[in-house]
Amino acid sequence: MPSTTTSSGPLFSPELISPAVAASLPEGHSLRPIQRTDFDAGFLDVLRVLTTVGDVTREQWEARYDWMATRADEYFLLCITDPTGKIVSTGALIVERKFIHNLGLVGHIEDIAVARDQQGKKLGLKIIQALDYVAQQVGCYKTILDCSEANEGFYVKCGFKRAGLEMAHYFEPPKSKYEAS
Ligand SMILES: CC(C)(COP(=O)(O)OP(=O)(O)OC[C@H]1O[C@@H](n2cnc3c(N)ncnc32)[C@H](O)[C@@H]1OP(=O)(O)O)[C@@H](O)C(=O)NCCC(=O)NCCS
Repeated sequence: MPSTTTSSGPLFSPELISPAVAASLPEGHSLRPIQRTDFDAGFLDVLRVLTTVGDVTREQWEARYDWMATRADEYFLLCITDPTGKIVSTGALIVERKFIHNLGLVGHIEDIAVARDQQGKKLGLKIIQALDYVAQQVGCYKTILDCSEANEGFYVKCGFKRAGLEMAHYFEPPKSKYEAS
């Protein structure tokens, strides 16, 4: 596994942030890669609208962030902040390198969340557009995601279409020796 380093800058190059999406945000809002200090900007609180996050400590957050930062060409997590700097929406793109399709790259969109009191203002749409922009910039031939039936309409509005069937195999939690800290 790659060695762990610390990083105080953005998780990935801000050049991958869509200027068009950034310019379309409500007054005072910003679109940017996440950064190591986002533990204090409410990143995990926004994710809590999506699912269980658990009691992730600052130390654990920083360790996971630092690990992702060693894979800056693979993990693209971005966020939208409100005028106070608080994170109100986030989403992730994980780029998978394949052998098929001439060594094709597939973008996996994950963990889309908009703060409960900010939903319905097109911030979810902007996050998806921004992630699709990153995917296209880095050379993905498609982006894919899993969602509930209840959210299908949202992703259709974002340009996605139903393709295939999601399946899952859950494991009891034996912690892998390969697990990052
Ligand atoms: C689902 C979610 C990301 C949508 O973000 P949002 O900012 O509230 O949605 P937007 O305002 O960007 O909606 C864009 C369009 O999709 C529509 N839409 C939003 N949610 C929808 C839903 N669940 N079903 C159908 N259409 C939906 C909106 O009405 C809007 O349509 P319009 O352009 O015709 O006005 C957000 O509500 C959320 O975080 N929910 C909780 C966490 C979650 O379920 N995440 C997705 C995991 S797969």
